[in-house]
Amino acid sequence: MIDMRIFQRILVFSPAILLIVAAPGFSQPAQTKPARAEAHPLDAGMQAKIEALLARMTLEEKLGQLNQPSGSGRNELKEEHKALARKGLVGSFLNVVGAERTRQAQEMAVKESRLGIPMLFGLDVIHGFRTTFPIPLAAASTWDADAVKRAARIAAVEATAAGINWTFAPMVDIARDPRWGRIAEGAGEDPYLGAIMAAAQVRGFQGKDLSANEALLACAKHFAAYGGAEAGRDYNTVDVSERTLREIYLPPFKAAVEAGVGSLMSSFNEIGGVPSTASRWLMTDVLRQEWNSDGFVVSDWTAIAELQPHGVAASRAEAGMLALQAGVDMDMVSGIYLNDLAAMVREKKLSEETVNQAVRRVLLAKFKLGLFDNPYRHADPAREQAVFLQKQYVDFAREFAQKAVILLKNENNLLPLNKNVKTLAVLGPLADDKASPLGPWHCEGRPENVVTVLQGLRNKVSPQTKILYAKGCAIDSDSTAGFAEAKRLAQQADVVILVVGENEHMSGEAASRSTLDLPGVQEQFVRAIHETGKPIVMVLLNGRPLVLSWATEHVPAIVETWFLGIQHGNAVADVLFGDANPSGKLPVTFPRSVGQAPIYYNYKNTGRPVTEYKFTSKYLDVPNTPLYPFGYGLSYTTFAYSNLRLSADKIKMNDSLRVSAEVKNAGKVKGDEVVQLYIQDEVASVTRPVKELKAFRRITLNAGETKTVEFVLQPEQLAFYNLAMKRVVEPGMFKIFVGTNSAEVSEARFEVVE
Ligand code: BGC
Repeated sequence: MIDMRIFQRILVFSPAILLIVAAPGFSQPAQTKPARAEAHPLDAGMQAKIEALLARMTLEEKLGQLNQPSGSGRNELKEEHKALARKGLVGSFLNVVGAERTRQAQEMAVKESRLGIPMLFGLDVIHGFRTTFPIPLAAASTWDADAVKRAARIAAVEATAAGINWTFAPMVDIARDPRWGRIAEGAGEDPYLGAIMAAAQVRGFQGKDLSANEALLACAKHFAAYGGAEAGRDYNTVDVSERTLREIYLPPFKAAVEAGVGSLMSSFNEIGGVPSTASRWLMTDVLRQEWNSDGFVVSDWTAIAELQPHGVAASRAEAGMLALQAGVDMDMVSGIYLNDLAAMVREKKLSEETVNQAVRRVLLAKFKLGLFDNPYRHADPAREQAVFLQKQYVDFAREFAQKAVILLKNENNLLPLNKNVKTLAVLGPLADDKASPLGPWHCEGRPENVVTVLQGLRNKVSPQTKILYAKGCAIDSDSTAGFAEAKRLAQQADVVILVVGENEHMSGEAASRSTLDLPGVQEQFVRAIHETGKPIVMVLLNGRPLVLSWATEHVPAIVETWFLGIQHGNAVADVLFGDANPSGKLPVTFPRSVGQAPIYYNYKNTGRPVTEYKFTSKYLDVPNTPLYPFGYGLSYTTFAYSNLRLSADKIKMNDSLRVSAEVKNAGKVKGDEVVQLYIQDEVASVTRPVKELKAFRRITLNAGETKTVEFVLQPEQLAFYNLAMKRVVEPGMFKIFVGTNSAEVSEARFEVVE
């Protein structure tokens, strides 16, 4: 095998092609290949300490460092887990939470085990710890990396105070299929937006200095292509080409590595016959050798044991060897590394050096976190009490949530509502639901801290406004018994706020759906209220794109709010009454019908792009276009784009190009716009997407104000993987698109010449 490290970051010029970064072939190397020395130089002092410690460890103690059992939250550890910790046979616990509880556990390892090696405490701190922020899909809807980073920072401050020093986040899986419930946990469908959000979260969680008391080690997951599950069914088979893997699924991981992510998690799925958890190509060749990551890899929950049902391992020991040799350093919950691998080393089926290599990476993370200096730095009961739900965190949660709200439709400017409105009917099963706004994976977020939409509206309106409330129906039932009462209230109102959608368990892990309709009888409910003829504002809570075809045709105003966390209701009320001007933009495509899934804006043209002619790539019953395109979102003002200009109409392959456009706030109120830049490489040696997001900028414009937005496109942004899987810029014509979403753009062209 060629050592791919030598290609790294070399610029190779040839007459026709500019190589940016070379990449290895896709061949899967033999799974038994022993681990190799790291490609990167470690801090020499740390390295010496690691080697000294390693030299003192027994084989069992080494395997113990690679072992991660699951605890019981804030409850007492099980006796068997205490015994393991005391013997130094736990490298990390997940789900042991709280300053007191983690300190007790840490003391068992540090004071009672032979070598006193401190443990990592891992938890899914996904969108806040105690102060719950918008779910990641909503966070990505802000297109605001600074805000995303700040939310991650606050989550880190709270989580570390509760003894947690490692989060299983960010989830950076690209998702093109809204049936997949975990679409809620990531940044949506686009690799560029996904990469920006991945890096922002890593920087937010980890902070500037990993050894600070408030630094939370991040974990980019699920490596890789977990979102490519066939038919959107969780854990299902993935079969993608290396090109799609590298262009679509891997960029957010690479961005996380470049931002210094301390760990990664292997995914449950297989890719083209190789389960990720057994893929040496992914875990070692790409991650360590090509990207130079010094982070360690943890398996997903029992993913090592699952190599047996995958059908690539006949026994637990075989599964363990496959995973370890691939480069998966820590075993989450399977207990295989600890219980089954020592015998394999003794029988010479597994080299001890492979074990050592994994242990080094785990110890390195502990050194970087400063745990050897102070193993209890994250277990401070006083800090824990003091930091939760601080006012500035809650204020920020509201501001962040406002930015995530996406205005999908606003016929005749029904919104914003007038604060003097006399009677509002607030209807629907999610209007006063305190649990759902927390979304999936809400850690220690509590319903009692949630402001519901109903509460938010009550907080907002003047004493003269009367608010009528009825649930109408449940989120997921077949009873229409409540319709009549809800209709009666609607009839008394000037405006109806109809709050419908999914609950927090309908997205996230193991929450795939085969339809994208409103669950239960909710769609019927919307129609019933529509029959009253009253103006309706439909407020959606959901963790995935839904099919909103009927509503889009009949309901005058539609507001996508996802799950916005504890300040959900206040943020929604701010938007509905115009105290906040909506500025969120879709990070995912909304289909017209579930049958269009997977659906995404950066598709390929095919040989038969759709025309009137029958024999083109289309459906008989639905257009190819989405209901709401990627990047879409309205405002209470309008933005006019003009004067799209390029600094040249011809550039050389290693030149950059300046692109500018004027954006005017043509309406009457101040607003934020996310200016988006896409490209298309018109003809290349391999097919290219019809559009690819390459840059964006969020700007604020006062009414009547115009700003010129300038982007500088670097050669790397024009590059792609050619037939030899080399990253290249090829000569030829390119299109540039600048606009307010992926479908409404101005267009210009330029040529790249040799
Ligand atoms: C999920 C991971 C999560 C882990 C630990 C798994 O089931 O796939 O995303 O980090 O559990 O809770």
